[in-house]
Amino acid sequence: MKILFYSARSYDKKHFEAANPGTFTFEYIEEALSIETAHYAEGAFAVCIFVNDDACAPVLEKLASYGVKGIAIRAAGHDQTNHVAAHRLGMHVANVPAYSPHAIAEHTVTMILALTRHIVEADNRVKQSNFILDPLVGFNIHHKTVGIIGLGKIGGLTAKILHGFGCTLQAFDPYPNQEYTDKYGLQYKSIEEVLATSDIIVIHAPLNAHTKYLIHADSIKTMKDGVMIVNTGRGAIINTKDAIDGLTSGKIGYLGLDVYENEKGLFFSDHSVNKPTDEVFLALTKFKNVLITGHMAFLTTNALTSIAQTTLENLRAWSNGKDADHEIR
Ligand code: NAI
Repeated sequence: MKILFYSARSYDKKHFEAANPGTFTFEYIEEALSIETAHYAEGAFAVCIFVNDDACAPVLEKLASYGVKGIAIRAAGHDQTNHVAAHRLGMHVANVPAYSPHAIAEHTVTMILALTRHIVEADNRVKQSNFILDPLVGFNIHHKTVGIIGLGKIGGLTAKILHGFGCTLQAFDPYPNQEYTDKYGLQYKSIEEVLATSDIIVIHAPLNAHTKYLIHADSIKTMKDGVMIVNTGRGAIINTKDAIDGLTSGKIGYLGLDVYENEKGLFFSDHSVNKPTDEVFLALTKFKNVLITGHMAFLTTNALTSIAQTTLENLRAWSNGKDADHEIR
């Protein structure tokens, strides 16, 4: 049974080959799934896709016409897939809801600390034999108020780690969980209160109609001067142009992004020769107080092993004529 992997990188191949007992034949291509590349899936039982592939209705119709029976998403986020259209076409859709939330929480905290202590700039200076410290003064995160937007599996672990640092924790989530209040002294507040009273705002919510551009000009205005915002959720939760205005005025003191609203076609590829032309992205890269990683919060061997194992379980269920445990309905 052939499974075609779109947007495949060397680390996908390594971890999926290690997990495959031989039931499936895996084929890997670097191109993202799109209307132009859907034809590569002809003869495949299922396709395996990642965050920036495009499984919209027209693409799914093409895949169905080639006999593809399932969309195995090797990620937690499934906003790239129109699962309603897939079901209408008789196709399965499944994701990997929790492969290693620790990986993303740890990356988030790494970004907070790297920003507060100017780690990238400090390393650059030392490597250029410049040991002057003047622009590198940081701040302790101990006793700082951290607001977490979206307190699910990843947000809960970020809360656990930051509790260890002695931060004061508050959160907005439409579905509060008493466990976090009891364990970490965290207080649930309205989104307005969290945005207005946090020194550091961390985004761990999914992208949906309520979170799209949650961080925009008006909400930025209500924040503390010099606020730090770290987003490892989804890019479009922040209106990037408005964030750039906030950085320019000094309202936003630090910005950490693992995700970017127009990352599709940019992240996961080498653009060092054909430089990016996205003016908004280029503007972001000019700020010393902006730290950007290219959607790699998930990128640990632990997470990749877990993603491969769960995706195989999803595929195995479909090949046995059953729904997967992580079927998106
Ligand atoms: P989860 O489903 O366990 O938690 C999400 C939480 O957000 C839930 O508690 C939910 O109630 C809450 N939420 C829903 N709507 C909200 C709203 N309007 N405002 C505030 N909170 C809201 O998901 P998990 O595993 O914690 O992942 C969170 C997100 O992280 C994913 O949706 C994905 O977009 C992103 N992610 C990023 C990765 C990366 O590599 N950068 C890797 C994996 C996930």
